[in-house]
Order: sequence, then C-alpha cells, then structure tokens
Amino acid sequence: MCGIIGIIGKDNENVVAKIIKGLEKLEYRGYDSAGVAVVSDGNLSRLRAAGKLKNLIAKIEENGLSGSVGIGHTRWATHGKATENNAHPMMTKNVALVHNGIIENYRELKFELQKDGYTFSTETDTEVAAVFLQRELDRGCSPRDAFKNMLAAVEGSYAFAAIFSMLPETIMVAKNKSPLVVGFGKNMCIGSDASAISSECKEVVYLDDGDYAEVTREGVLFFDKSFNQIEKKRTPVSEDLIDSGKGTYEHFMLKEIMEQPNAIRKTILHNRIGEDILNGVSRILILACGTSYHAGLVARYWFEKFLKIPTNVEIASEYRYRSPIIEDNTLVIAITQSGETIDTLEALEYVRKHSNAKVAAIANVKNSAISRAADTVFYTEAGVEVGVASTKAFTAQLVVLAAIAFCRNEFFLQKLQNVPALCEEALALYEEIKPLAEKIKNAHSAMYLGRDVLYPIALEGALKLKEISYIHAEGFAAGEMKHGPIALIDDSVPVICLCPHNELFEKMESNIAVSMARGKNIIIFTDEIGAALLPNEAVKIVLPNINAEFAPILYSIPLQLLAYQTALIRGEDVDKPRNLAKSVTVE
Ligand code: M6R
Repeated sequence: MCGIIGIIGKDNENVVAKIIKGLEKLEYRGYDSAGVAVVSDGNLSRLRAAGKLKNLIAKIEENGLSGSVGIGHTRWATHGKATENNAHPMMTKNVALVHNGIIENYRELKFELQKDGYTFSTETDTEVAAVFLQRELDRGCSPRDAFKNMLAAVEGSYAFAAIFSMLPETIMVAKNKSPLVVGFGKNMCIGSDASAISSECKEVVYLDDGDYAEVTREGVLFFDKSFNQIEKKRTPVSEDLIDSGKGTYEHFMLKEIMEQPNAIRKTILHNRIGEDILNGVSRILILACGTSYHAGLVARYWFEKFLKIPTNVEIASEYRYRSPIIEDNTLVIAITQSGETIDTLEALEYVRKHSNAKVAAIANVKNSAISRAADTVFYTEAGVEVGVASTKAFTAQLVVLAAIAFCRNEFFLQKLQNVPALCEEALALYEEIKPLAEKIKNAHSAMYLGRDVLYPIALEGALKLKEISYIHAEGFAAGEMKHGPIALIDDSVPVICLCPHNELFEKMESNIAVSMARGKNIIIFTDEIGAALLPNEAVKIVLPNINAEFAPILYSIPLQLLAYQTALIRGEDVDKPRNLAKSVTVE
C-alpha cells in the first residue's frame, strides 16, 4: 500500500530524480497515484499525478521541480478516489506532508479545524494532518511543537513525513502501525521500507510504534512516544532486500515462479528446525492472510497428522474481533511474506495482550515488523518477491512449515530434499500448460477442486487466477461440491482438479466424474498412475510422482503458471494487478 520516501541531499544536490527512483522501488507495494514535494529557498512546491509513475515523471519534465530536500509518495486510495487532487503530498502554506495509514478520527479533527476557519480541498483523511500542522504554526508553534500536537491529536495508523517552509533542511517523521525507516548514507533518507532507499543508504533504523524523528543533513534526533530523546540501533541493509531486476523474463512473476527450486533449496538449508520449538506446546495457532493463510491451512493437515498437536488456522483480519480464547501452551505462528501485513501484526498484538503464548514468525522480508514482533523467526529464503501475486514465497513458507511438521521425522526430512528437483520437472511443463490458458481466458468463472492437503492448493490456485487475470475463481474441497457449488458448473466453467494417485484418489475421481457429467472444460493435474486411470475426455497434465505429503508444494507450480499465462494472454498487468498491494498496511 502507500509508499513513502524522503531525501535530504548533501551539498544542495537536487534530489527529485532520486525520489522518483525510490518511488519506482516502492511501486511493488501497489498504488494508484503519486506525488513529490520539495522545499527550496524557503518555498514549498509539489507535483502530483493520478495513475502510474510515468504520469508524474511527465509532469515533472514538463513543469520542472527541484530542491535538495523532498518527500515523495505512492498512494493506494482509501479515503477518496485515486485522483490527482487526492494524491499526496498534502500541502498548505507552510507544510507538505505524506502519510501511509488511516486517520480514524479525521471527521472530528476536520470539524474542529473547520470551526477554526480552515478549509479543505481533498476527500482524504490525510489532509487533516497537514491542516492541523498549519493551524498550530499559525498559532505560533514551532514546527516541532506543531508536529507533537498533531501526533497527540490523531488516532489510527500512520507513517508521516513532513517538510516545512521555515525549516528547509529537515524532514519530520513519525510512525504508528505503518512501517517507516530512517536511512544513513551520503544523503539522509526516510522510506517505507529499506529496499526503497537501499541504493542511497547502507544502514537503517527501523522506527517503532510511537517513535518520532527529526532528520537533518547532520543526522537524526529520535524521540519515543513521551517525546524523550532516545538512541536507536542502526541495522545494515540486507543484500536480500535488493531486487536484481527481471533479468531475461518479461515479468517478475514468471521469474519468481522459475526461481522456486532454488528458493526451496535455500529455505531447506537455512531451516533445520530443532524439536525444542515444540517443547511444552499442546496447541498451535496459525495467523495469516491471503496466500500465507493458505500455507497455514496446509500446515494444519501436517501438524495434526504428524505432530498430533491440535492446530487452528485463523484469517488474521478476523481473528482479534471475535474475542478468541488462547489456551495455555499454545505456539502461535504468524506467516507472512512481507512481514508488514497490518492484520497479522494486529492479531499478534491481541495474542500478546491476552496470553503468554510463544510467538514464532515465518517471514520472507528480513527485519520486517512481524519478524521483529516475534520471539522466534524462521526466514523463507525466497529472496525479494516483487510480483504482487505471491509464488516463491508461498512454496518457501510450505517448506518452513514442513520443517516444523517433520522436525521429529527424519524420513520426511530426507524426502523434502527431493522436492526442488521435482519442482524443476514441474516447471518444465510450462509449454504444455500454456495452451490451457486459451481454455480459460474467456471464462467468467473457474472452479478449482482438491482434497486433503490439496484443498488449500485449490484455494491458492483460484486466488492466483483471480488476482492477476480478474476472472472470478473459487477453490473448493471437492467433497463439498455436491453441497452447493456444483450448481455453478456448466460448459462455460473450467473445472481445474488436483488429483494425484493418493489415498483419496477414488473419491476425487468420483468428484471429477460428477463434474464431467455437467461441464466440458475439465483440466486435471495428476501423476502417471492417476493419468492412466482418469478419463481421456479431460485434459490431463502429468506431474512427477511425489510423496503425498509434499504434493502441495509441487501442485502449486502448474497453477501459478496457468494463472500467469491466462493473465498474459488477456493482456493484464501481471506484476501490478489493479487494486492490489504487495504490502497491506491498512486494515
Ligand atoms: O505479506 P503477507 O504474506 O502477509 O501478505 C498476505 C496477503 O496479502 C498476500 O498473500 C496476498 O494474498 C497476495 N497478493 C497473494 O498473492
């Protein structure tokens, strides 16, 4: 979601081009408008544009914008449409401000400011923060006091960065629930994440909730929520945060799909998990969203079958609102690619408040908020994932979860070692999968069926298709079809079935037969034995044989390729699908 960057140039260097570069690095977070503001000779100026960054760049080229201190923003619209007028930075006479988050009490603040004679020109919640600062300055406050008063007044989530006409060498920042880092390099920087400023800064400070900082050319003053000056630890920017581009691939998503064998290999190598993680654990609670939630659903099968530990998997965005009970001796596992998902972070906060449970995180982004909030972190070694649709991070999450599930089971841990090579074989099926996209591309709806550990993969396959191709798709537990969803099947609805020759093969075979009796667009992902037994009227793609427990990892791959190819031939923006954000930082 929204991305923030700010740079204070040394030697009066014009920082606008660098701000744009930083915004390009933040694009992956998802956005629908962008803007930059600078302060120069005591004057503030800004340019904003709706749509992609190229629109902002064109405006800057046409109108010119320069300054050695500036802030930039990519906005993912929450309050107010994605128009130029609602784009950040918000600007008043003396302040320009960018914001990531939601100001929940914006209505009351707006009313109060209107009563004081201030007017508003946008539909955003953010504008109240800028206008509040202006009122405080008009009342004679210093920028620091104005900022403090504003922070005391706003409720909700925020990462703020503000520049002031009367303080032309400073960027003021504050954080509550939305991510923000301060970077140290030749130029001082601030950013929503370390990757955005990694070309400028080799060290960063991760701000904590309630922190406030004044960044200047000379350095940074940090304050805690009681405005006591504090010291903060600098962390080197991890090489893993720096994306190496698309290489020869047309899209990051395809590159990331193809990187899976190596990502899995590396994740296995770095995650030899000791049995002690389960010491005293009598329950497991998994909290996650989206694709990461699907990884958790697979893990439940493994944990209950092999560890014999009752396991709950909860959608993090729902969890804390139903006053759940956390039993003693629960191990909580948060799963997240970005490590920033606010729903998961808030669910963990609930856990902390209401229990003494041990919290582990499975995260892809090193030093991310969720990894810092956990007692133990297991990193998926998938490397930077740029495509909004999660692929390699998902299979790497499954690998870490398998390493936990089989930490007492050397036989399966050995079998896990074979998975990367099998994934290579699955990737080699891409040419065979490509024509299937033709069978799906005009469908108004698609169904994915699976059973047991492959049921969550049906959910994940459907999520991939809808995210990037915008075709409605649903995953179902195949046995549930007859309880309602079967009504949806007709000749126009592709039914995508996951059917290796496993213990439930006959049951799944019947579910396929039932679908084939009602529709004609049936695609089956199976293995050699399954293919020999399943009807020839269906399209069959034969995957390598794999131990049944690890089928979720392998069977994810053709579904990713199918979704990718379908979106590609429909001409969609595969890496940056509409309305979606890679990092979900608002509730
Ligand atoms: O970064 P996280 O894993 O916490 O993100 C959770 C979801 O937002 C994410 O998996 C989302 O569903 C992806 N777009 C899926 O491709």
